[in-house]
Amino acid sequence: MTTEATINEESLHTLIGGVLQDLGGAFSVPLVQIGESLGLYRALHENGAQTSAELAMKTGLNERYLREWLSAQAASNYITYDSANNRFSMTPEQTFVFANPDSPFYLAPAFGSAAAFQHNMPQVKDAFRTGEGVAWGDQTECLSCAVARFFRPGYQNHLVQSWIPSIEGISEKLSENGSVADVGCGHGISTMIMAQAFPNARVDGFDFHEKSIEEARKHANQHEVPNLTFHIQEAKELPGKYDLITMFDCLHDMGDPVGAMKTIRGALNPGGAVMIVEPMAGDSLEDNLNPVGRMYYSASTMVCVPTSLAQETGAALGAQAGEKRLRDLIVNEAGFSYCSRAAETPFNLILEARA
Ligand SMILES: C[S@@+](CC[C@H](N)C(=O)[O-])C[C@H]1O[C@@H](n2cnc3c(N)ncnc32)[C@H](O)[C@@H]1O
Repeated sequence: MTTEATINEESLHTLIGGVLQDLGGAFSVPLVQIGESLGLYRALHENGAQTSAELAMKTGLNERYLREWLSAQAASNYITYDSANNRFSMTPEQTFVFANPDSPFYLAPAFGSAAAFQHNMPQVKDAFRTGEGVAWGDQTECLSCAVARFFRPGYQNHLVQSWIPSIEGISEKLSENGSVADVGCGHGISTMIMAQAFPNARVDGFDFHEKSIEEARKHANQHEVPNLTFHIQEAKELPGKYDLITMFDCLHDMGDPVGAMKTIRGALNPGGAVMIVEPMAGDSLEDNLNPVGRMYYSASTMVCVPTSLAQETGAALGAQAGEKRLRDLIVNEAGFSYCSRAAETPFNLILEARA
C-alpha cells in the first residue's frame, strides 16, 4: 500500500492542479448549458461590457442569479471581468468558442453532450456488469440532439469547403446531378448541408433510429430542400446506388461495421466513393493520451461501445480505433480496393474509400 512517505510532492501538486481544473469544468456543465439556452453569451457579446444589473435589464432575467453565473464564468475564463467598472464582457476568442454557433470551434454544445453522458450513467454502469449494450435509442432522448449540435460546426465549416473537394471528381459529379447517401445521418445536419450545396444532386439520409429521422424530417420541412429525403434504415440494408456515400461519426458505432461496409461497397455507382468521417485518433493508446483522445475515449465508453454492443455482432470498435484499424477493416475485411486519408481537422479523420 502507498504511504505518505512514498508520495512525490511535486507529482501530487501537478495531479491535484489538473484535477481541480477538471472539477471546475465538470461543475460548469450545467452553467454553460444555462448560458447557451438563455442566450447569455450572445447577450454579452452583442451588447458589450455589462454589469449584472444591465444584463438583467437586457434579458429580463433575475439579477442575483446572473451575478453568480457571471462570477463563475469569469472564474472559468469563459468571459472577462473588469473590476474597475464591475462589468463583464467577451473577448473575440471567448465569443468564437461560446457565442458564435457558426465558428468551427463553437464548443458550448459539447457541454450538452457531457450532461447527456451523465444522464445515461446508471444504464451504462449496469452494462459494465452484464457486458450487454445500451441501444442508441435507449439512451436519454437529448443525446442525439446533443450529438447533432456538437458536430454541426465541423460540418458547417469543412464539409462542402474542404472534405468533399478532397475526394477527386465528386464535387463535379454532384454539381451536375449525381446522388448521395448519408448513412447513420442522425438528425441529418450533414445531409441538409450537402443537399443545399448540391441542388442538382439527389441526397438521401439513412439512420436506423426512428426519432432521429423524425427530427431530420422536421428540420428539412422548415427549409425548402426538394432534393432531400430521409429514411429509417439499418446501414447493412442500404438500398439503391450512389455516387457518394458518406458516414459521419457512425462507422465505429455500428454492431457490424464490416457487414455495413460490404453493403456500402455494393451500393456504389462506377467511379463512386465513400467518405468516412471518424473521430481523430492515433493508432495506439499512447498516441491518444491527449485532450482530444481523453474526450473521445470518455464518449466512447458512455455511448459508442454500448451502442455497438447493443447490435448484432457487437464489434465495438470504439471511437479511437485509429486510421490503421479502420483501413484494415475497410480494405482487408470489407473488400474495398482503396482507402486513404483525404483530409483531417483536430477533431476528425476523413477517409476516402473506393470499391
Ligand atoms: C454519433 S451519431 C452521428 C450522427 C450523425 N452522423 C452526425 O454526425 O451528427 C451515430 C449515428 O449512427 C447511427 N447508427 C448506429 N448504428 C447504426 C446502424 N447499424 N445502422 C444505421 N444507423 C446506425 C445512430 O442511430 C446515430 O444516429
